[in-house]
This record gives sequence, structure tokens and C-alpha cells, in this order.
Amino acid sequence: MKLLQEKLSVYDAPQKAKAAGIYPYFRAISSEQNTEVLMNGKKVLMFGSNSYMGLTNHPKVIEAAVEATRKYGTGLAGSPFLNGTLDIHKELEAKIANYVGKEDAMIYSTGFGVNLGVVSTLTGREDYIILDEQDHASIIEGRRLSFSNYLKYRHNDMTSLETQLKKCDPDKVKLIVTDGVFSMEGDVANLPEIVRLAKQYNATVMVDEAHGIGVFGKGGRGTCNHFGVTDDVDLIMGTFSKSFASLGGFIATDKVITNFLRHHSRSYIFTASITPASTAAASAALDIMLAEPERQEHLWKLTNYALENFREMGCEIGHTSTPIIPLFIRDDYKTFRVTRDLLDEGVFVNPVVSPAVAPHDTLIRYSLMATHTKEQVTRSLEAIEKVFRKYDLLKK
Ligand SMILES: Cc1ncc(COP(=O)(O)O)c(C=O)c1O
Repeated sequence: MKLLQEKLSVYDAPQKAKAAGIYPYFRAISSEQNTEVLMNGKKVLMFGSNSYMGLTNHPKVIEAAVEATRKYGTGLAGSPFLNGTLDIHKELEAKIANYVGKEDAMIYSTGFGVNLGVVSTLTGREDYIILDEQDHASIIEGRRLSFSNYLKYRHNDMTSLETQLKKCDPDKVKLIVTDGVFSMEGDVANLPEIVRLAKQYNATVMVDEAHGIGVFGKGGRGTCNHFGVTDDVDLIMGTFSKSFASLGGFIATDKVITNFLRHHSRSYIFTASITPASTAAASAALDIMLAEPERQEHLWKLTNYALENFREMGCEIGHTSTPIIPLFIRDDYKTFRVTRDLLDEGVFVNPVVSPAVAPHDTLIRYSLMATHTKEQVTRSLEAIEKVFRKYDLLKK
């Protein structure tokens, strides 16, 4: 065996989980991605998707993607910087900027690429990047690529944020980056207080709205809109892979910042643009979100129904108040077993272990879509209660 393979072959956790019949990853779906999907020929209720608006199979979204493919072709053989800009990219950028309430927007080929290419690029060696300890991995990776000083505050703890701000040189740039809705535990950032502190300490704020868009704010504009702090947040990031039912991501901000990013952000310049199909699908999904506010209303009804039932059941669900509901298990193997048993009961949920959460915070991530019915949610709750009782995970 070569040295590299010898070194890597020590990593055998997946093999062990497979041998125990509890390996929970890469489970293939062989149907349309709706609230019920086909897995191994069996119908399964989907409670593990981030398609909060449930638009992935909407006829208008599909039609827009097909039409754009017919007109422009399947791919872009280049980055937006060179040959990879289409008129529909520019139109979507303008539409997104207007939607979230910013001067300008840029489209990247993934949400991950947005955070990577924005967080790493804006600040210099003497400046500061300040992150919530539970920020998404893509924000953390962006920070790792930056030469700036790094400060981290305790999760959603504003005293801790202020302590970090006090450590900074007042004359240097301070960039605070937070998820709007935290992706694994579903709690919401204290944006009013973050913005207040940012003003007090002359800091810049960037909010990742990956899980906020569609769910929060008027027309699903996100948590910044929900809290009325859009003008005080300097950069709003979003992804097309969740409520927008597509692939890609955006940063929306002022023209001074986009001018710099368009000419320096490496994950924007050195990668191909999103496909015509993805562009048109995201644009069509946005139109539907605006035209059909009842989707957002229904999602919230389901969310409150599920939250109430989980609490009543005695599940530990942390501080969530959103369609992302963490069911804490706090043990890796038990988390995998519960995931498998729930699939046997016809319910797909995601197991979340370290490094996505702290090792002692292992959980099942249950997430809702606007297209779920109350009856489907009830069925999932019954299955969860049965399996959680079996593993003695209910407090009642
Ligand atoms: C908070 C957050 N930011 C960014 C991303 C990356 O988005 P994408 O999947 O579009 O690359 C995700 C996706 O998991 C996310 O949850």
C-alpha cells in the first residue's frame, strides 16, 4: 500500500457503521423530490429536505428550467468574469437585489462558494473577522482563507460578542458574520442586538440567509427583513439550493462592495457560472414565493403544530422556533440507529453528528416544507414517538 492509502485506511468509521447496518448517508432517492419520495422501491415521508417552499417539482419552475436550457444550452463554459455571463444572470442579480432590499447582487455557483469567496476577500491582515461559534462550515472555511485576525463569540451570546468587539483596534475593519437561522439547531440570530453593537463599535455585518429566505420576512425575504434591519446589515447572503429550489447562491450589498468582490473574489472569478436551468429555476421560484404567500403561512402553521407536539411528547428540541427542528440524542450511534429505525417506519430525517454540531450535541434534524400536509406531519410524529420511546429518549 502506498503511504497515503496506508494513512487514510485507518479511517474505518463508515465501514463499522455499515457492518452494524446503521450507515445513514448517501441514501438514494429514485423519484421526484416531494414530501413523499421513493427509496429502495419504498415510499418514505421526507422530513430531511431544505426545500422549505417545496418548489423543486413545481411545474412552473421545471418549465422555466427547460425553456432556459432550450434557449441557452446546458452549461456555461466559463466564469461570470469572462464568457460566462448571460442576460438572465444579470436579470436575476437585479431581481435578487431588489427582493432583499440592496443596491446590487452577485450570483455565485453555490452558496458555499459565496461564503468562501466573500468572507475570505473583504478584510485585510490588520482587520478582524468575528464569527458566531455555530456559523455554517462555509463561513468558517472563508475565514480560514483570510489573513485577518479571527475572533469567535459564544453562540448567539451578545455579551460575548461585545467582549470580542472591545478587543479590536477601533481604526480597523471589523466584519461580524452570522447565520440568520442556524442551520442545524434552527434558532434565530439576535440580529437587532448584533446590529446595535455593530453600530456602537463601527463594525460591518454580514448575514447568511440560507435558511431564512422563504421562511422569514415579508414575501420570504429573510430574517433581516423580519427584524427590520435590512438597511443596517451590510451584506446579505443567500443560496438557491433551499427555498429557491435550484443551485447557486448570492451576495447582496452595496456597489462599493460588489465592485471589489467582482474583481477579487476567487470563488466567483475562477469558477463557472450557474447553468441557464438553475438561473431560470431560481427566478421562477422567486416569482412563486411572491405570488403565493400562503405557502409561507402554511409552513408556519405546520411548524407551530410540530413544535407543540414535540414539546408535548417530551423531545429535547433546544431553542428552535423555525421549520428546522433538532431532536437531540447526544450519542452518535444512537442517532444512527434512530435514523435507521425511522426510515424503517417510513420517515426520512437527517442524522447530525460532529463536526456539524459539537460532539455532545448529536441530533436528528427534522425539517418541514410548505408542501407537507398536516396528516403527513402527524404520521411522522407518531413514528418519531414510537422510535424515541424505544430508545428511551422522551422526557415524559
Ligand atoms: C447556513 C448555510 N450557508 C451556506 C450553505 C451552502 O449553500 P449551498 O448548499 O447552496 O452551497 C448552507 C448549506 O448547507 C447553509 O446551511
